[in-house]
Amino acid sequence: MDKRVAIITGAAKGIGKAIAKRMINENYITILVDVDKENGETLANNLGNSAKFISCDISNENEVKSLFDSVKNEFGRIDVIVNNAGIIRDNVIWKMPVEDFDKVVDINLKGTWLMCKVAGTLMREQKKGRIINIASRAWLGNIGQSNYSASKAGVVGLTRVLALELGKYGILVNAIAPGLIDTPLTQKLPEDVQEKLIQAQPTKSMGQPEDIANAVAFLSNENTQFITGQTIYVDGGKSIGAGL
Ligand SMILES: NC(=O)c1ccc[n+]([C@@H]2O[C@H](COP(=O)([O-])OP(=O)(O)OC[C@H]3O[C@@H](n4cnc5c(N)ncnc54)[C@H](O)[C@@H]3O)[C@@H](O)[C@H]2O)c1
Repeated sequence: MDKRVAIITGAAKGIGKAIAKRMINENYITILVDVDKENGETLANNLGNSAKFISCDISNENEVKSLFDSVKNEFGRIDVIVNNAGIIRDNVIWKMPVEDFDKVVDINLKGTWLMCKVAGTLMREQKKGRIINIASRAWLGNIGQSNYSASKAGVVGLTRVLALELGKYGILVNAIAPGLIDTPLTQKLPEDVQEKLIQAQPTKSMGQPEDIANAVAFLSNENTQFITGQTIYVDGGKSIGAGL
C-alpha cells in the first residue's frame, strides 16, 4: 500500500471539509470522520475514490478504537491525523451551566486526547507520523469562552507533551490556532457580532477554511521536518494583541 493515509476529524463541514479536500489534492487516502453522517457521507462520495467516511464520536473511547482498527485493517498505515472536531457552548461564567463546561471539554480536549492516544500508539510502532491538532487563538483568552478557551489551552499543552514523548519515534506533533474563520460555526453568530470580530483583526477580514488547510498541508508535507511542539497562528494577526 503506497498511498499515504490521513484521518481528519470534524470533516463533514467547515474547516475539516476544506482540510479533507486539500488532503485529497495532496494525494492522500483521506478518512473523513464526523458524527454528522449525512453531510460526511455526501462529501466523501463527492470527493471520489480516495475519500472514505467513517462515523465516530471522538469523545467515545470504543468508537475511537474501532475507527483506528478499521483504518489499520483496510489500509495498513496511518500517516497523518488532523484533530479538528470541536464545539462551542459560549456564555459568561456566571451563566454557564456545568453541562456546557463538561460537553466542550469532553469533545475538544478529551476527544482530541483519545485520538492522539490511539494514533500515537500506532505511529510509535510505525516509527513515523504527523499529528496536527486544531486549537484556537481563543486559548489566549476570550470573554464568554471559559470552557472553550480552557479546552483549547489543554490542546496546546497536549501538543507540547506529545512532541516530547513521541519525537524520538519519528513523530512530529503540532497545533494550529485559527482566528476568526468563515464556517457554519461562526456563521451562527449575529451579523453585528461578526462585524465587531472582523474589526478586531489587524487584517480587518475573516479567514477562510482553506487558510487552515494550507497550514495543515505545510505541517504534513514530508519536506517539512524539525518542527514539533509548536502552535502556528492562522489568525490575521489577532494573537499579536497590540493596539486593537
Ligand atoms: N471557525 C472558527 O472561527 C474557528 C476558530 C478557531 C478554532 N476553530 C476550531 O476549528 C475546528 C473546526 O471548526 P469549524 O468552524 O469548522 O466548526 P464546524 O461546527 O463548522 O464543524 C465542526 C465539525 O465537527 C463535528 N463534530 C462535533 N463534535 C464531534 C464529535 N464528538 N466527534 C466527531 N465530530 C464532531 C461536527 O459535526 C462538525 O461537522 C474546531 O475545533 C474549532 O474549535 C474554529
